[in-house]
Amino acid sequence: MGIYVNENENTFLLTNDEISYLFRIMENGQLEQLYYGKQINYTGHFQRFVERSYRSVSVGEFTGDLVTSLESIKQEYPSFGGGDFREAAFEVELENGSHVMEFKYAGYEIRAGKHKIPDLPATFVNDPGDASTLQIKMKDDLTQTELLLNYTIFEKYPVIARAASIHNDGGQTLMLKRMMSASCDLPDCDYEFVHLSGAWGRERHLYRTPLRPGIQAVGSTRGSSSHIHNPFLLLARKTTTEHTGEAYSMSLVYSGNFLGQVEVDPYRISRIMMGIHPSKFNWVLPPGGAFHTPEAILVYSDQGFHKMSQAYHRLYNHHLIRGKYAGRERPIVINNWEGTYFDFNEEKILTMAEQASKLGVELFVLDDGWFGKRNTDTTSLGDWFVNEEKLPNGLGHLSKKINALGMKFGLWFEPEMTNGDSHIMREHPEWVVGTPHRQRKQGRHQYVLDFSQPEVVDYVFSLMDQILSSANIEYIKWDMNRCISEAYSCGLSAKAQGEFFHRYILGVYKLYDKLIQKYPDILFESCASGGGRFDPGMLYYAPQTWTSDDSDGIERLKIQYGTSYVYPISSMGSHVSSIPNHQVGRMTPLDTRANVAYFGTFGYELDPCALEQQEIEQIRKQIAYCKKHRRLMATGDFYRLLSPFEGNETAWMVVDEKKEKAVVGWYQVLSEPNEAYKRVKLTGLEEAAIYYIEELDSAYSGSELMYMGITLTPKINEVMDFNILDKRDFSSKLFTLVKIDR
Ligand code: GLA
Repeated sequence: MGIYVNENENTFLLTNDEISYLFRIMENGQLEQLYYGKQINYTGHFQRFVERSYRSVSVGEFTGDLVTSLESIKQEYPSFGGGDFREAAFEVELENGSHVMEFKYAGYEIRAGKHKIPDLPATFVNDPGDASTLQIKMKDDLTQTELLLNYTIFEKYPVIARAASIHNDGGQTLMLKRMMSASCDLPDCDYEFVHLSGAWGRERHLYRTPLRPGIQAVGSTRGSSSHIHNPFLLLARKTTTEHTGEAYSMSLVYSGNFLGQVEVDPYRISRIMMGIHPSKFNWVLPPGGAFHTPEAILVYSDQGFHKMSQAYHRLYNHHLIRGKYAGRERPIVINNWEGTYFDFNEEKILTMAEQASKLGVELFVLDDGWFGKRNTDTTSLGDWFVNEEKLPNGLGHLSKKINALGMKFGLWFEPEMTNGDSHIMREHPEWVVGTPHRQRKQGRHQYVLDFSQPEVVDYVFSLMDQILSSANIEYIKWDMNRCISEAYSCGLSAKAQGEFFHRYILGVYKLYDKLIQKYPDILFESCASGGGRFDPGMLYYAPQTWTSDDSDGIERLKIQYGTSYVYPISSMGSHVSSIPNHQVGRMTPLDTRANVAYFGTFGYELDPCALEQQEIEQIRKQIAYCKKHRRLMATGDFYRLLSPFEGNETAWMVVDEKKEKAVVGWYQVLSEPNEAYKRVKLTGLEEAAIYYIEELDSAYSGSELMYMGITLTPKINEVMDFNILDKRDFSSKLFTLVKIDR
């Protein structure tokens, strides 16, 4: 790994065994992108990567030179207004109303490790040798503004982390209108645009469409990263598959409004960029002021989607997720939400807990409804005081009782919200987001607290702190159940209203920071009406995220498959819920529900007292199975085998680092008459090794399992049994492999 600067050529090269990223200082002092992709060897002749051609209507950089035009040059961090008519990464308004800046190269710095980004989540190194950082300094002489571009290359991964900051060293107030975390011009446009999009209950489905000229984008202006689009984009060759072909991707370590876009220009260059959404973003930069962007993680894969996902999984597991649970197996949860909704009391909860503990559950999570007068979703958010009608002996008593059953106790909060009927709304209406003299619209009967005001964050912290110090609470589910409308803060001047959305999310991060500092051992699970804020920013604070409110095993195939493009399965909250499923009414069999949920942070979302004896026995076995294999699930490599977006079958597997253990899940949505022979081909195993498959009570070579596959068709003498047992919709099989001596 290294960062090489060639002062004769004015080039900067970041390279490791996997990737190279090359740019240079142009004659006008700006930066030109030269190469990004598979690792290339340093020859000292990178000048020949520079491409120039005469374009008749372009604006030239130098008087009399019609060839050097920013319009057709691949740029590194393009700014607005200087002859490049594509969308810029960056735009500032000066006091005189002009928008043109001329940032010119002004120096560089290289350091081991990487910088922290003030107040924002970001990847980190565990050891300075894990990564190297190049910081390029650019300067606009007229305004005395400095732009710092940070590039971190990780030693072991095909990853470059990018972020930028701007520092106003001049005398005038600047208005920052747009500042992306990263922008990169790729030399052609023969790609397909892949993104993770959806809605509540069907988050992060996979979409793949050919690029066309012009702009295509994903984004959010809802105040959260959202169910609709995930802060991730990917360009893949038409021929790219799971294990072959090129893939360029960006993932944003941020939980607020974002934009990820691709612009294909007339010369077939694809400009990809990602960062805070510029819509309604205006940041006042007074003299002496600075602004830091969130971090974008660029992954290049020359071997398809798997290699890309593996880079994200490893990076996020080892260099983003923090705390006691990072890289560790998670407790098996039971959450009472779908079991009781708001209708519970201490006795009911303790009966559920008792039953759950007998099943082997390790953590009881008391969901919404334990506070204020919260018997419906119309009241009490913000009233973080125990509901004594439901829990007359308080949370301290309840947690003790649950601990005595051998389980940890966890609690639901929705810290960012309040209802019309709450003490905050009565006492501090100015703490609630809303535009003056206009209706504040409700979402799920609730309003958003103005987390851009530090006193609101401090106040919510004090309420949560009282609860957390009153009982042994070892897990928090942090929910967020509405988008932000009528965005406006009483705490900001008229001119600074464009700072609201970013300041809001900084307030959310601040509250997480305060809680983690005081309660470092609490396991946080983030949630936003299910998976509405499943992003890398949240993972920095909460090692797991409730993947979706849709917990039907069949629906989860697409949701978890799509989510796995970026996020490790150890970060995906995935529970078995009751049937008929509360979101889709489906009667998915219990084994299939668990066979899907094992590939995540496992748990149950039901009333254990309503189970039949046969279900109880099955669940006991499921929990025992999970305990046996969850270390593998938390730390192994995840492979996608068959895509739910392409057919009736889905398959995936997890293999440990030493390739000695693996678990494979295979799922079939609808049963088929007179079906074709079926096999599932595994991957990631050692060819010559012998693996014993528990469920088949047989041994196979790794090569047989990978190239012939596991035969799913019944053996001849089992035809009848197979037909009777397995002819059903929503079926699944689990295969547990262990390497044995020959
Ligand atoms: C959201 C969450 C659910 C549950 C409810 C409680 O919808 O996604 O899991 O916690 O809120 O109101």
